Amino acid sequence: MLGIESSCDETSAAVVTNDDGALRVLSCVTTGQDALHEEYRGVVPEIASRAHLENILPVIRRALRDAKTLPIELSGVAAGHRPGLIGSLLVGTSAAKAFAWGLSLPFVGVDHVVAHLTAALLDRPPIEWPAVGLVVSGGHTSLFIMRSPLDLDLVGATLDDAAGEAFDKAAAILDLGYPGGALVDAAAESGNARSIDLPVARLPGLDFSFSGVKTALSRVARESVWSGRRNDLAAAFRRAVVAQIIRNLSAAIDEHNARSCLMGGGVAANRLLRDDAARVCAARGCELRVAEPRWCTDNAAMIGACGALRIAVGDRDGWELAPQPLSAIARGERGPRRLGA
Ligand code: KG4
Ligand code: ZN
Repeated sequence: MLGIESSCDETSAAVVTNDDGALRVLSCVTTGQDALHEEYRGVVPEIASRAHLENILPVIRRALRDAKTLPIELSGVAAGHRPGLIGSLLVGTSAAKAFAWGLSLPFVGVDHVVAHLTAALLDRPPIEWPAVGLVVSGGHTSLFIMRSPLDLDLVGATLDDAAGEAFDKAAAILDLGYPGGALVDAAAESGNARSIDLPVARLPGLDFSFSGVKTALSRVARESVWSGRRNDLAAAFRRAVVAQIIRNLSAAIDEHNARSCLMGGGVAANRLLRDDAARVCAARGCELRVAEPRWCTDNAAMIGACGALRIAVGDRDGWELAPQPLSAIARGERGPRRLGA
């Protein structure tokens, strides 16, 4: 299966195989654009789609070459077609369709947020179901109950900022650089997390909110007593954000007797989050599967794998499938859904 990802600022292509649910990555080639967006401290959509256009064909060619796979050996093509920046999605989805059309291969669109959970299944033995799925990325904070990789209910979502977005804003407030999540994480390692109690939002149910803790941080950071104590503030911020995620994660595992927990998205690389998730899962006899660091950030391997699972159950999408900036999941709509439905 050839997978293509272009939803934000990473152009990526991968070749994966699905052997009765065992997902193996033969190659994955990803080109980022951080340097192009750095001076704006955020992704500029027009710049992103133009860069995708330049990168997409070389990236696909290299992925096929690295996998020692000829186009005629493929059995399908998948593209992340939602949610994301519309111009960026258009490049990857159009390339995938053209490729599939030219080779008479089946084409499927894949929901990027769901694929972040498939990422935790790559190159690993199977898990027990049901599982709790947590996607924490720059654009999404979504909590799922999963009966299989393609059969899931959204049970919690952020009401405002995504977890990664909150980390990026914290990095900007603390003047640590962009993209900031990993920098806040690193600074927090040498700070005192208990130097100040930043507020942890307490919402009913399993939803998240990170705008309060971000506002509290920006207020505190202006006070002179905190000057020169960036690491302490980074640690306090990380503690507050992670505490909220862990509270909902444990509640979801308990409520649904989950046997496993899948975690993906850029923020799943966060050290405190990984340690705390390992602790609460171990205490509940629940197996934690965090996506490998290279599959935590946006990549086409997770798209190809999710698409391969769809193809295996006979799902196909038509050429009219259009990229969508939003999805029901991204809008936070609850209820059971099968991927692609
Ligand atoms: O999944 P991803 O590549 O992009 C989206 O699909 O949104 O995630 C990128 C996000 C950024 O917000 C980045 O700051 C955050 O993940 N991130 C982290 C860490 N590493 C990356 N946040 C917290 N701690 C980290 N170690
Ligand atoms: Zn993502």
